[in-house]
Amino acid sequence: MTKPSEKPMDEMVPIFFMGKRYEVPASLTIQKALEYAGYQHIRGCGCRGGVCGACGTVYRTPDSYKLQVGLACQTVVQPGMHLMILPYYPSNRAVFNIEEMRGTGGELAELYPEIFKCIGCNACTMGCPMDIDVMHYMAQAIRGDVKGVAETSFDCIMCGLCASRCPAEEVQFNVAILARRLNARYRVPRAEHLRKRVEQVREGLFEEPLRDLMGKSTEELKKMYSSRETEPQMAEDDWTPQDARYV
Ligand code: FES
Repeated sequence: MTKPSEKPMDEMVPIFFMGKRYEVPASLTIQKALEYAGYQHIRGCGCRGGVCGACGTVYRTPDSYKLQVGLACQTVVQPGMHLMILPYYPSNRAVFNIEEMRGTGGELAELYPEIFKCIGCNACTMGCPMDIDVMHYMAQAIRGDVKGVAETSFDCIMCGLCASRCPAEEVQFNVAILARRLNARYRVPRAEHLRKRVEQVREGLFEEPLRDLMGKSTEELKKMYSSRETEPQMAEDDWTPQDARYV
């Protein structure tokens, strides 16, 4: 991934979206470049911050025959790239009631028996824009290691690009979220602060401040927003492509 600030603002490059050529500023992400070209993201446009998985993109660049992947909101355009955004990849999802489960590794295989069809080709890992070792967590799923799958897949944003590349037709990201839910429900200690906060919400502790907020004008809300507490900015030299989703 190229760091946006490395490219001059005025340089224009050609890109091909659904086979049609557009000239766009070289410094833009794919998502912004498409908006520059006239496309509007009206519905399901996503978080724009690299966390929702709604902008999974497949592309090829002129210097390589290889199909590459990225998030449209994080990946900067490259000259001559051909691309297509896959906002969703058809994937069956098992229906379950987490309260009626046991949190065992066998439940992964009960709900997704096709995990045993994995041929270990690693195409899923190669297709992950979050650099998750997908093939490794599928092996952990086959072994019934719920905690392992939950931890290895922790950064998954459910974009579905792993499933799009899988010759065994697995739905890796759905297996992974089941493991994270089982792990959270049955294995990790309950978060005490969360329990307290839920209690406070139920007791109506925030009703009045919320009503107060709803009564404020747009100008007052803007002022409150810009004076809110935020985390300190990261130093430019510490920047890595993985950080793109936090800035
Ligand atoms: S728009 Fe949410 S990850 Fe890109």
